[in-house]
Amino acid sequence: MPHLTIPRLQKKKTTGEKITMITCYDASFARLVEEAAIDIALVGDSLGMVIQGHDSTLPVTVEDIIYHCRAVRRGLKETHLMADMPFMSYQGPRREAMKNAGRMIKEGRAESIKLEGGEEIADLVHAINKIGIPVMAHIGLKPQQVHKMGGYKIQGQNPNEEETILKEARVLQEAGAFAILMEGVLLEVAQKVTEQSSLPTIGISSGPHCDGQVLVLYDILGLDPGFQPKFVKKYLDLHSLALKALNQYKTEVQQGRFPTLEHAFSKKGKGI
Ligand code: KIV
Repeated sequence: MPHLTIPRLQKKKTTGEKITMITCYDASFARLVEEAAIDIALVGDSLGMVIQGHDSTLPVTVEDIIYHCRAVRRGLKETHLMADMPFMSYQGPRREAMKNAGRMIKEGRAESIKLEGGEEIADLVHAINKIGIPVMAHIGLKPQQVHKMGGYKIQGQNPNEEETILKEARVLQEAGAFAILMEGVLLEVAQKVTEQSSLPTIGISSGPHCDGQVLVLYDILGLDPGFQPKFVKKYLDLHSLALKALNQYKTEVQQGRFPTLEHAFSKKGKGI
């Protein structure tokens, strides 16, 4: 697979080839994502929930994202690496936002960044893009604004919300974003944005009409049996498989069935 650069990604919109994107947080899974030839690996601030165990993405720091980006980078070759800018890493002074965006590329070795927001981030998107850092704009449901929204609610449910989403997509395209991510947007609205925008759209919980899709890796693998939102498809029941393996390991150790001589090294053996 040739390396997924920004121009190649944008070309997919014109050729109608769907864009695939998945979150990723470590080198082992990055190798799998690479082997599956997924287009984009996103080190998302969702790591605050699925890796760190918080109940929102808000506590995630710039250092956290950089740490996980560096790990994922080591597992990737051709897949595009995107870093998510965490809460308050870009909502404050411009200088600080620019510096944090730069750190994602320089220290995290990401190739692009993602920012949540609408009109209020347009100037920043313009400035970051101007210095050569490609920005994906995340509109619709913005988890970093969970307290303002009063929960994780589907967006675009009335004419005002629909107009806001369409306007956000327009403004961010003009500001220089290279793609639009729509989260939790009614499928009809997501379809309109996709038709009206010349940028590729990536959807999560926004229906099938987007130019590409993203999901949280652990969600598609079925790691949390208690988490089954409508928009997630579980391709595996990793929770059951992993639990079975752990139980077997525990039982075999307790019963002295593991390790056997086969798993050990001896003076007579050949070593590793
Ligand atoms: O943080 C994240 O993983 C994301 C995706 C779910 C889009 O923003």
